[in-house]
Amino acid sequence: MADIQLETSGRDYLFAISDNDNHLTQIEKAAHSFYRTRTFDDSSLLLDSLNKRVPSALVIDSAQTDMSSIDIVTRVRRMLSADKLPIVFICSPSQTDLIDGAMGYQGVNVLTKPYRRTALLNAISSQVNSAIEADWDNIEPVQQAALKNTLDSFNSIADLISEGTPVAYSSVAENCQPLIKAVQDQNFQEMLGGIRGHDNYSYVHSMRVATLLSLFGQAINIKGDDLMTLTAGGLLHDVGKMVIPHEVLNKAGKLDDDEFAIMKTHVDHTLEFLDKSNDLPKGVGIIAGQHHEKLDGSGYPLGLAGTELNQLARMAAIIDIFSALTDRRVYKPSMPPEKAFSIMGSMKGHLDPILMVAFKEMLLDSVGDL
Ligand SMILES: [Fe+2]
Ligand SMILES: [Fe+2]
Repeated sequence: MADIQLETSGRDYLFAISDNDNHLTQIEKAAHSFYRTRTFDDSSLLLDSLNKRVPSALVIDSAQTDMSSIDIVTRVRRMLSADKLPIVFICSPSQTDLIDGAMGYQGVNVLTKPYRRTALLNAISSQVNSAIEADWDNIEPVQQAALKNTLDSFNSIADLISEGTPVAYSSVAENCQPLIKAVQDQNFQEMLGGIRGHDNYSYVHSMRVATLLSLFGQAINIKGDDLMTLTAGGLLHDVGKMVIPHEVLNKAGKLDDDEFAIMKTHVDHTLEFLDKSNDLPKGVGIIAGQHHEKLDGSGYPLGLAGTELNQLARMAAIIDIFSALTDRRVYKPSMPPEKAFSIMGSMKGHLDPILMVAFKEMLLDSVGDL
């Protein structure tokens, strides 16, 4: 059985130092969907803690009196290089000496006050992700290309959506080729390991869905263009989530009725975006449009039932639920596959029973972490 473990490394943590409690509270609130924040008002305690655990990133607020904020950067960089610990340095635009000093260090992103919450999240995120993406250079070429290419597609789609420009399916398909090859060769473990800790959750989820759909497709003998449709469909199935408000998309608790209504619109947003494309295979639209439909008609957006549900949609529904259950979030540990299967087994009438058996058998056959 594939082993899907919860990681308990410092990678879930963000450290933040300031002598201003309000700033620390703001940082903690801004990051709470992504990280457990540990706050410090004492630089020696911070340095001591860094010796014991390396967090995902460190936020240094220049409002720091016991040691100058630049001295903290210097001390931290002596202990940990830029690829080990990204730093976000917050100061006022008038503190030009501090800005110049901080920018003299590698892996330090300077953010000036006042800043928007999303700017802080983006600063942390771009720092964390560039450290993780730099590690991809150390993995085997096909898997490395799979990661880099799919991330390229994903990032450029974010731009295309905001510009209202259609996606060229041919370029997404080209970018999915190495992923298909890695899965074909049963050589995708490092690739999945490489996205652990990446803090673009939508990318991580879509990449896992693409990989599992590709694996599932190959296990039931789907080949060629149809296999590409499945894989690219996995990567594109949730792109409409890019326009869902951050606080709904990343809410740690259960969504209330209004929030769930907003969340459900991601399917329409995805279809609206994909419909602009003139070279998209029908199957990709089916995966995107029907992955939340259920066999008994209780799904969304259309409440399709039984034979109205295409086989691709049935496969995508299984993989999407399995993936969502076993994905790791800060507020939700990765669930072991056995438990995910048991939950899925209790969803009576929702999922295709024959495909469920095939999927379980395929995972029993898989080796290592998924
Ligand atoms: Fe979805
Ligand atoms: Fe999904």
